[in-house]
Amino acid sequence: MKDVSTLPVALFDSGMGGLTVLKALSRRLPTEDLLYLGDTARLPYGTKGAETIVRYTLKAAQKLVDSGVKMLVVACNTATAAALPQLRERLWPLPVLGVVEPGALAAARASRNGEIVVIGTEATISGGAYQRAIARIRPEAHVLGRACTLFVPLAEEGWMDGPLVEGIARRYLADIFSPAVTAARPDTLLLGCTHFPLLQAALQKVVGPQVRIVDSAATTAESVEAELTRLNLLRRGGVGHCRFLTTDNQSRFARTGSLFLEQPLKTAEVELVDI
Ligand code: DGL
Repeated sequence: MKDVSTLPVALFDSGMGGLTVLKALSRRLPTEDLLYLGDTARLPYGTKGAETIVRYTLKAAQKLVDSGVKMLVVACNTATAAALPQLRERLWPLPVLGVVEPGALAAARASRNGEIVVIGTEATISGGAYQRAIARIRPEAHVLGRACTLFVPLAEEGWMDGPLVEGIARRYLADIFSPAVTAARPDTLLLGCTHFPLLQAALQKVVGPQVRIVDSAATTAESVEAELTRLNLLRRGGVGHCRFLTTDNQSRFARTGSLFLEQPLKTAEVELVDI
């Protein structure tokens, strides 16, 4: 019988964003094999209705599970916020982790004054998952959510900085972070979308150096390690290998994926799948 601990950890995102989580995971757990699926044919998820997001997510997850994995990491805030309970029910007893709880933990740890701004897709912000998750960890915190829809195509296009990106970020965030605002000043900006870490430098310029910018990648890697340890599923020894699946356009996945991973990815390394 196959030793389950040698199976890969699967990661899923609507596109490239989840690669920010994969990067953190492969650094933290270098012996693990990682299997990544980006549903680029259906991207973006964040502007779609909850039922559509759930339907797409369940299909994508099933594709990964069918190939034999020991854990599923939903490396997409939009999919986590909309579909985590359904995924857990459908895939039980497979462990399924999302990125919202780890992201909320990162923000709750980082903030000194409890004034937190979370940015994400329309679906994530309007569903209130982050607001609820932070309230569970730090009930006295004040959380303001803001949908920043255009950040997803900017990141997928590889436009990470420059006047245009800063201008768009200012349009979304200036009323919260401009020096003229006299309301309680947020000290933490939580990137509640796995695409947004690519824009971090531009965002820091817009919100100012005193604001801490956090995301869910590192804390998700922490919780994956904790869960694998708890279930005695950590792979002991060996060198982990990453496999990349996409539902559309392998060469674009390789090109943009290289930016997210900060290392070259070749088209031949990306497999096209239908779901
Ligand atoms: N990466 C996804 C997230 O973390 C958003 C991208 C999309 O809209 O599909 O929410």
